Amino acid sequence: MLDKIKTISERIEAYTIETKDQLEQFRLEFLSRKGEITALFDDFKTVAPDIKRAVGQELNKLKVAAQNRFDSIQEQFEQSTDSKHTLRATDLTLPVIPNQLGGKHPISVVHDRIVEVFERMGFNLSEGPEIEDDWHNFSALNFPENHPAREMQDTFFIEKNPDVVLRTHTSSVQVRVMENEKPPIRTISPGRVYRNEAISARAHCMFHQIEGLYIDKQVSFSDLKNTLYHFAKELFGAETQIRFRPSYFPFTEPSAEIDVSCFICNGKGCGVCKQSGWVEIGGAGMVDPNVLQNNGIDPKKYSGFAFGMGVERITMLKYQIKDLRLFTENDIRFLRQFKHIQ
Ligand code: PHE
Repeated sequence: MLDKIKTISERIEAYTIETKDQLEQFRLEFLSRKGEITALFDDFKTVAPDIKRAVGQELNKLKVAAQNRFDSIQEQFEQSTDSKHTLRATDLTLPVIPNQLGGKHPISVVHDRIVEVFERMGFNLSEGPEIEDDWHNFSALNFPENHPAREMQDTFFIEKNPDVVLRTHTSSVQVRVMENEKPPIRTISPGRVYRNEAISARAHCMFHQIEGLYIDKQVSFSDLKNTLYHFAKELFGAETQIRFRPSYFPFTEPSAEIDVSCFICNGKGCGVCKQSGWVEIGGAGMVDPNVLQNNGIDPKKYSGFAFGMGVERITMLKYQIKDLRLFTENDIRFLRQFKHIQ
């Protein structure tokens, strides 16, 4: 009897079970009512009393072993999604799946770089709310009520209350800083802004700007130019040139659009700069005396400059990205390309 138990035990261990059919076969052969183990239990009745105890223990062990083997393989089948009802053996020679670390979003890469350059020039960081009131977004910045200048920026109004808007530019943070601080002020304010525009390759209803504000005694237009010149060289390369084109903003006078020489073709003319050799990165100007006055700063004593630039725009130029929508679609194939840029 003990010999029989031993051979069956060896057969159970060596039994190949790779398919559900084989598992069923195993059950029939050993565990079912007509199986070999059940038969052994019948034979057990005839075993001599002096060895009954020892044989009984072995027989129980055999039954438990067979049942365990059956249960564990059945469990593996339940977890396996393989439709062919086969168990795949684990292939230990397969290469490991690399641990996929994320990377910074391209907007963050460029944002961080811009902030770093201005921080080194002594600018601090300031922030303001994305939901603004009319005063901080428009009136304090010298946009008269019902003035067409407000139409320059298609505004999202918060339901029913025309006084509450999603800020259309980070210039609103200028106002908040002037309210709370005395000159000298040297600050940059990065953040999201919103405009009521149809989403396309070149326009979005949400994007990022970085605002700069510098107020002190005798701040001049040449300070503005030099600051932006230094910034452009740091961000786009030592050969970069800047140029100002006359423009209009209610809160600066004089006002200008900032162009930098095209860093793709070095000003020779290419697709990115549309053969002009220059690309626009933002707006700037001397803070209008009315704005200083509105915010309790004496324009006879102090002067200042301000600038604002689009982070998406600079990122698109820097990495030659043709469609603004890519930034918000979360397509991992796009984002992965920036993984190694810090
Ligand atoms: N706020 C302006 C815009 O969004 C940019 C700007 C900022 C212009 C500061 C001049 C000074 O278009």
